[in-house]
Amino acid sequence: MNSRPVSDPLTTVREVLMRRRTEKVLGDVDAPVQTPENQRAQFDAVVRKCVLDSGWAPFHFVRGVDDLAEPWRAHILWQDQAQALGKVLKHQHGDATKVPPLLCGCGAVVLVTWLPETDPMAFEKGDCTSLQKSAARDEEHLAATGAMVQNLLLLLTAAGMGTYWSSGGNLGKSVGFDLLGIPASERLIAAVFVDYADTQGEVTKKPGAHRDKRGAAWIREPSISDG
Ligand SMILES: Cc1cc2nc3c(=O)[nH]c(=O)nc-3n(C[C@H](O)[C@H](O)[C@H](O)COP(=O)(O)O)c2cc1C
Repeated sequence: MNSRPVSDPLTTVREVLMRRRTEKVLGDVDAPVQTPENQRAQFDAVVRKCVLDSGWAPFHFVRGVDDLAEPWRAHILWQDQAQALGKVLKHQHGDATKVPPLLCGCGAVVLVTWLPETDPMAFEKGDCTSLQKSAARDEEHLAATGAMVQNLLLLLTAAGMGTYWSSGGNLGKSVGFDLLGIPASERLIAAVFVDYADTQGEVTKKPGAHRDKRGAAWIREPSISDG
């Protein structure tokens, strides 16, 4: 008889959910972290697979841009490219935010964007029906992309990597999009910074500001009265 314990998927999923935590890893832009080459290749392969698998998120509408059903896109910057971008943002664009240090402290960063349908010109045209329809679909495109991002965080956590979902600052603005060749028709929803173990170099680590503010008071269980 096989005496190996049967794995319990519910326990496993709960553990990964709760193990996921924001871990901001700030590096030195002029002396960025270095992951040894052989380890980096292994970590990169895991990240690539996690990004691919994160696409198993639900989505309501086929977005249909470039014949792709998904409403999201993922732009992966590996360590060298992330650090190069951090330097350019800091030294050429005067970015004094945490974004350049984050780029120089990570193993990789995955920029997740979504593709709104709403035509900005529809506001000027006063085409309310088309606006209402596309705005409703956009809400669902955005919701689906949020699910895809959470999938990615959980997969990376399960793989033993640190993660941080950031709004991205300049990475979501035209300066970042232009440097990375991201079309203006996309919107950044998440810059997912991925921490590789065993990196060499000075870093500062910070947790998420709201980690311990969670409660259960947001849950309701309505009942229907017929009188
Ligand atoms: C859409 C989104 C955007 C976020 N952007 C930022 C950000 O720009 N800066 C930041 O410090 N944290 C950001 N966070 C992370 C939250 O601060 C973090 O999730 C929260 O503090 C709870 O901590 P935990 O992730 O460890 O549970 C973002 C989270 C989400 C979902």
